Amino acid sequence: MTTQKPGLFIAFEGGDGAGKSTQAARLAEALADRGLTVLRTREPGGTPIGEKLRSLVLDHGHGHIDARTEALIFAASRAAHAEQVIRPALLRGETVLTDRYIDSSVAYQGAGRDLGTEAVRSLNEWATGMLAPDLTVLLDVDPSDGRRRRTANDGLEDRLESEADEFHTRIREAFLELAASRPDQYLVLPAGLPIDTLAEQILARVLALRAARDTLVP
Ligand code: TYD
Repeated sequence: MTTQKPGLFIAFEGGDGAGKSTQAARLAEALADRGLTVLRTREPGGTPIGEKLRSLVLDHGHGHIDARTEALIFAASRAAHAEQVIRPALLRGETVLTDRYIDSSVAYQGAGRDLGTEAVRSLNEWATGMLAPDLTVLLDVDPSDGRRRRTANDGLEDRLESEADEFHTRIREAFLELAASRPDQYLVLPAGLPIDTLAEQILARVLALRAARDTLVP
């Protein structure tokens, strides 16, 4: 499944504390230096309604949120993001980098919350009209390393981050299974590699994809 659009759609995925935002920023800078128009965005969020949904689902203090409600809030945020932001940018020929996409719901709600990965996938394919990334960069992080890295700054964790390590281990396994099921669609890298090494490997893969696309679509 590809976007079939002139632009290129790259998703960054991985457990909390994997360093996705750092790598998305590095890639955006490197691609912009090469003259490409890059749109950097994130989930949940990316639109005004999505940012409201983000605070509903991540902030503590909204009372109990059951697993199905949680999955639907993430999917609603994603529907707006795909329709209002990602698809239009791809149609304009831009390179879209998103910090998290459908795989996050499949891993966190499907596996982590035990709603079933297939049910969550089909909900999200419906929500996005089957808009799939051309490449997913998976930064694989051990849950205890991830917790150490993300609490190093302020020590604060959101609703999902504060779940037990066992929850995060199920998520890690789900991400790795997704990548193993479609290896050509993924670049899997250990999150613990030096930042520059990760950035170089990600850039090389994206430039190769861009070149292949330019050969196919003159
Ligand atoms: P993220 O924005 O990566 O965290 P932060 O910016 O605070 O580092 O993601 C927020 C949390 O939401 C993260 O724990 C993963 C979770 N999440 C889901 O459970 N399902 C989803 O579909 C998405 C997009 C995120």
